[in-house]
Amino acid sequence: MASMQTSPNIIVGLDIGTSKIKAVIGELSPNHIEIRGYSIVPSKGLRNGVVINIEETKRSIRTAMEEAQSFAGCQVDCAYIGITGSHIKSISSHGVITINNEVTAEDVQRVTQQAHAGKYSLTEEHMLHVLPQEFTLDMQEGILEPEGMAGKRLEVKTHIITASQSAVRNIEKCVLSAGLAKSTPVLAQLAASEAVLSDDEKELGVCVVDIGGGTTDITVYRNGSMQYTAVLPIAGNYVTNDIAIAFNTPTDSAERIKVQYGCAMPSLIKEDFKFDVQRVGEREPFALGQRLLSEVIRPRMEEIFENVEARLKQDGFSKEMFGAGIVITGGSSMIFGSVPLAEEIFDMPVRIGVPKSDVLSGGLVHEVNHSELATAIGLLLYAHQNFDLDNPGYVYVTPRAKGPGFFATLGSRLRRLKNWFSASF
Ligand SMILES: Nc1ncnc2c1ncn2[C@@H]1O[C@H](COP(=O)(O)OP(=O)(O)OP(=O)(O)O)[C@@H](O)[C@H]1O
Ligand SMILES: [Mg+2]
Repeated sequence: MASMQTSPNIIVGLDIGTSKIKAVIGELSPNHIEIRGYSIVPSKGLRNGVVINIEETKRSIRTAMEEAQSFAGCQVDCAYIGITGSHIKSISSHGVITINNEVTAEDVQRVTQQAHAGKYSLTEEHMLHVLPQEFTLDMQEGILEPEGMAGKRLEVKTHIITASQSAVRNIEKCVLSAGLAKSTPVLAQLAASEAVLSDDEKELGVCVVDIGGGTTDITVYRNGSMQYTAVLPIAGNYVTNDIAIAFNTPTDSAERIKVQYGCAMPSLIKEDFKFDVQRVGEREPFALGQRLLSEVIRPRMEEIFENVEARLKQDGFSKEMFGAGIVITGGSSMIFGSVPLAEEIFDMPVRIGVPKSDVLSGGLVHEVNHSELATAIGLLLYAHQNFDLDNPGYVYVTPRAKGPGFFATLGSRLRRLKNWFSASF
């Protein structure tokens, strides 16, 4: 490993899930991210996104990094890591400052900082993101990019995302033990949504449902920005357990048949294909039909979608708010029939979200183009938007220091690119 190529612009998007760890290595340059390698390995030591066994988690992350680095042929010491779990909190906040006739980038940063000052416990919570929703300049509401505009009083409405300090520290400890000296925690839902959504969908209103192994993460975008997030402790592992119990088969065999033959809608099965299944404690396998398997899967997938619908309703969302419908992603969205089932339950258009972006390049782009990798790819996209191109290699920048961060305005982004070019050539 010591002789492997290293570069300060090569980083890893690390999605430490409840059932799998996904590591995607990318090389960042101003206009694109070249995918260099990736790995998907079983995850041990986490429950619902939170570390419950630190040694097992460290081992799983080390395995993921060894595989991904060997694939990419390079060593990485900088990670963007996805953070999720029921400890995530989102608070709506408001900041106001007076300015000197014209809004500068510093004013935008100052008003955003003002919005989150004193809004959460510094000892218990880690501030992940301050997401500006809209600015008001004097009496003019609904401004998305106030920089350069004239006025006296600048207000901002923001959405603050925090995570439990201890949950973030434990993940960072595990990541450090895999040789990743620099790490930046990012809300996993934010990363996944950025990877799968188009700007139009964010504008029209859309709900992203990331169905993983242990948790189902809900994220709502409206008027171009993230407005809401929630985590439900029910996902694909429940489906696997149902199969294991219904057919008295070991969990790994239940997982295998789910992925290979599973279907969320029995009515989609035209020919009842039969396959062999191992029974616990018995040598002889038995023949199971795809339709019966599907009848066990459907109620649990239905329950997941119904829980999402109930949670959205409880928190004040109605169908009319989602002009662009629902986007499902995460490993469990890949089960055959999940889209028509979700459409039946939500009574809205549903599509599968796969990671897509014009900035991704390299021969591996088509290989990583599936929903299981949405968060890991989204972490690379996040890194690309926030990477300090003026100072490659120095990337441990807290969202606080970066101000609007992920939602950096187009103008400021172009300027950073320009600076990068003038510093390099
Ligand atoms: N082709 C497939 N068909 C059905 N289910 C699948 C498929 N591929 C993966 N899964 C399921 O997806 C789940 C893992 O998805 P993912 O990797 O998104 O979860 P995770 O990130 O590890 O978990 P979490 O986000 O809950 O912490 C597992 O339950 C797995 O069985
Ligand atoms: Mg996940």
